[in-house]
Amino acid sequence: MAEPLLEFNGVAYAWPDGRSVFADLSFRIEAGEKVVLLGPNGAGKSTLLRLVNGLLQPTQGTIAWQGCMLTKELLRQRDFARRFRQDNVLLFQHPEAMLFNPTVREEIAYGPRQLGLPDGDQRVARWAAELGLSALLDEAPFALSGGQKQKVALACLLVLDPSFLALDEPSASLDPATVGWLIDTLLESGRTVLVSTHNLSLAAELGERALILNGEGRLCYDGPLTAALQDLELLQAAGLAHRHRHRHGGQAHAHLHVHDWESS
Ligand SMILES: Nc1ncnc2c1ncn2[C@@H]1O[C@H](COP(=O)(O)OP(=O)(O)OP(=O)(O)O)[C@@H](O)[C@H]1O
Ligand SMILES: [Mg+2]
Repeated sequence: MAEPLLEFNGVAYAWPDGRSVFADLSFRIEAGEKVVLLGPNGAGKSTLLRLVNGLLQPTQGTIAWQGCMLTKELLRQRDFARRFRQDNVLLFQHPEAMLFNPTVREEIAYGPRQLGLPDGDQRVARWAAELGLSALLDEAPFALSGGQKQKVALACLLVLDPSFLALDEPSASLDPATVGWLIDTLLESGRTVLVSTHNLSLAAELGERALILNGEGRLCYDGPLTAALQDLELLQAAGLAHRHRHRHGGQAHAHLHVHDWESS
């Protein structure tokens, strides 16, 4: 059997202050899968995506990328790091951290130039146009709006033509048209995608499989996304749905709510 693209095996992560985020996470992602990562605030979604992207290393267990153990030593090897940084990219939840060039043009061109990719200028022009950034190419990234910054950060990743894309809450600051474009662009591509979101109504459009982290550091679900979204007990147990009381016609009663799902 072919190696999975990504495999977590018994992964635990604790921050240097000793705080444990999760323990014993095991899952695999095959090439081409679109996987949605769900979990309440603080469950560890962003931490998991940083592990996937090699920015953090597990405190226990192993992470394999195309069958190679993602160790600090491997990530320090120039040839591997170069391929890995082009192929496995992460859109941060707060992308300001990624932007440091004086202009949007230089920002988007930075990765291709570092990697010595051909056609840098054409790549920049193409992705700037796709993301509606062409008129902003000479602007300073720091002076853009939050959503515009996120578009620039996304262009910086897509310009590398990665096979794997990790996206941390992309719908939080992008406008609906851009989120729609992103969904179409990603789902129609052969890329493998792992995307975290709190937006349960959008989740159904982002992928076919769900990984759900509960608030106690456990992967409490790995399976079809639509089945998970219909299982209110599961969503409540994972801290994603809320049981609250309210009144209808003077009668108080309680039921489960997944607010953005219900209002869509
Ligand atoms: N740099 C850090 N140092 C120490 N602890 C951290 C650090 N970053 C995050 N944490 C802790 O790790 C845990 C998981 O955080 P993480 O950001 O991965 O959660 P999340 O699921 O992405 O949450 P959200 O939905 O709010 O984005 C939290 O308890 C958080 O306080
Ligand atoms: Mg997060």
